[in-house]
Amino acid sequence: MELTRLQIKNFRNLENVELKPVQGVNLIVGDNASGKTSLLEAIYYLSHIRSFRTQKVTDLILRNSQYLQLVANIKSDKKHIIPLGIRRSRNKSEIRLNKKPIKRVSDIAKQFPVLAIHPDSYKLITGSPSQRRQYLDWGVFHVEHGFFKAWQRFKKALMQRNAALKSKQSPDMCQLWNEEINETANYIDKLRQRYFNKLLPYFYQLTKQFFGEELVEIYYKRGWSDEKDLLQLLENNLYKERLKGYTYYGPHRAEISLKVAGRSAQTCISRGQQKTLVALMRLAQAMQYTEAMQVPCVLLYDDLAAELDSKHRQLILSVLSKMNIQLFLSTIEKQQIDLSAWNETKLFHVEHGKLI
Ligand SMILES: Nc1ncnc2c1ncn2[C@@H]1O[C@H](COP(=O)(O)OP(=O)(O)OP(=O)(O)O)[C@@H](O)[C@H]1O
Ligand SMILES: [Mg+2]
Repeated sequence: MELTRLQIKNFRNLENVELKPVQGVNLIVGDNASGKTSLLEAIYYLSHIRSFRTQKVTDLILRNSQYLQLVANIKSDKKHIIPLGIRRSRNKSEIRLNKKPIKRVSDIAKQFPVLAIHPDSYKLITGSPSQRRQYLDWGVFHVEHGFFKAWQRFKKALMQRNAALKSKQSPDMCQLWNEEINETANYIDKLRQRYFNKLLPYFYQLTKQFFGEELVEIYYKRGWSDEKDLLQLLENNLYKERLKGYTYYGPHRAEISLKVAGRSAQTCISRGQQKTLVALMRLAQAMQYTEAMQVPCVLLYDDLAAELDSKHRQLILSVLSKMNIQLFLSTIEKQQIDLSAWNETKLFHVEHGKLI
């Protein structure tokens, strides 16, 4: 899978930009505020229909414009060209994949998997557990069959149960959803656990290179005790849950925790270490995806040079050069990125929202 062409209209400061990337590494160079992150953000938006910087579509549409538009060609693993188009105004969104309108974002994600590492990525470690669940579920969704359907079923049952708890309906009414929650929750946990176990060897192989003697540990917690039965927890905690108005235990409370040399990565390691760890989490994911699916994904790395010291930068570049994926790297100074290990490279120079 490869992005072969992208036309960007009215996205941030990119009024009208067209690029034809290569399958190897695409280096985006430009001064501060030239539009480097915006360019990567546009590629990310194509895959996720959301940004990694903002929740608000008005932030993304070029000031004083009515809509943004992204038109792309994706080359599938079977070498077919799949056109993908998005037009987004403040209150309307149109997405076309292979010339047909689509409603579900998941349909695009499957065709065009994109991962990003950017200066705010460390929040994956310091931020809320929901971000780490999202990280995990990106992979579960792509690699494990049946996850999306199970998650939709679980979410629906959880919403119904929470609504019953909140409106203080009778215990019988609240318990109505327990079976469905229990069944889907255990299935989701099984898929998450399976994916997590597949990810581990890639992650640890990387942390050994980057953290040397310092032991890095990563754990998956499923959202309820390993020793306890979820159905029983749902039944036994009903009184408490009706007071609070929500369901305590389940895969919606799953978590990933990380330790370096026995200390919490959330509170006890440096920002640089957090940034490195998150980069390794994403790289492990990209490696696992590519090997499991036998299809390369796209990786965006914003401001690579600013993120890491020169030793770690060299090490990351060396790891990246051995991965069979399509890469988009951005940097302010071209000299800071050594691309000699790649066969196929292309340089894009951005200046005031234009490619020159
Ligand atoms: N909706 C918008 N309309 C027009 N311009 C915008 C919009 N949103 C952001 N900008 C501007 O786009 C410019 C490019 O921002 P971007 O974050 O892409 O720069 P960058 O090249 O990544 O810079 P840096 O090196 O500082 O990270 C900035 O000047 C920003 O203020
Ligand atoms: Mg930037």
